Amino acid sequence: MTIGIIGGSGLYCLDELVTREKRVCVTPWGEPSSPLIVGSFEASPQSDVVFLPRHGEGHQLPPHKINYRANIAALRDQQASAIYGVNVVGGINREMCPGDLVIPDQIIDYTWGREHTYSSGGELSAGAGSDSSEMPIQHVDFTYPYDQVLRDNLLQQAIALGLQVHSGGVYGATQGPRLETAAEIARMERDGCDIVGMTGMPEAALARELGIPYASLALVVNMAAGLGEEEITMAQIGSVIDSGMVKIRQLIAAVVQVG
Ligand code: HPA
Repeated sequence: MTIGIIGGSGLYCLDELVTREKRVCVTPWGEPSSPLIVGSFEASPQSDVVFLPRHGEGHQLPPHKINYRANIAALRDQQASAIYGVNVVGGINREMCPGDLVIPDQIIDYTWGREHTYSSGGELSAGAGSDSSEMPIQHVDFTYPYDQVLRDNLLQQAIALGLQVHSGGVYGATQGPRLETAAEIARMERDGCDIVGMTGMPEAALARELGIPYASLALVVNMAAGLGEEEITMAQIGSVIDSGMVKIRQLIAAVVQVG
């Protein structure tokens, strides 16, 4: 079983991954954010992992410029049968504070203008298939946007490692790259959002369209706009990312180990 891992801000490589190959891929939807890193974890040599840094190896892609379709299609082409997406987020729920891990169970999508579907409406012509960008219209069930088995894997391993984790939450996906206004966050709170990030969608929906089980592992790096005492700075976010990614790496390694 090949496990796909999509790294977010602060997770551009997996030190524990013994790289077999750096694979440059092209899909009918264009190129993914970077070459795919194919390998296995030191502690579990039998594991088969494909890693992709969502923002590119040097964080050169802002959230609205990421080719989400190419990213998910490239992982599908490497036979990924599960995808874990790592996201950094702001906390809206007062209990979801910087440094906390969240395994969201719902999404509200506020993004716009992104290439968000493979369902272009083209006829599936003779010879068209995984090599074609033409896919017939499909209305996938997205009632529960994240895969429950993968969410359980994350939760169980987080508990086993003694990590503080929130076992659910509504992920509000915003357009970025700017952060939100206080009024936007107040509206998102009224809508029921617990956390806010810029990269959760359309990634989750595209994985669903291709039938690949997908879950998100989110790290809270700041309180969302208007909720904290201080201005949100990149320096503050950076220091939480540095310590938080240690936990994320540990958790991912454990999840891969159990398969
Ligand atoms: N808003 C949106 N995306 C984010 C935030 C935020 O406050 N923090 C980290 N990613």
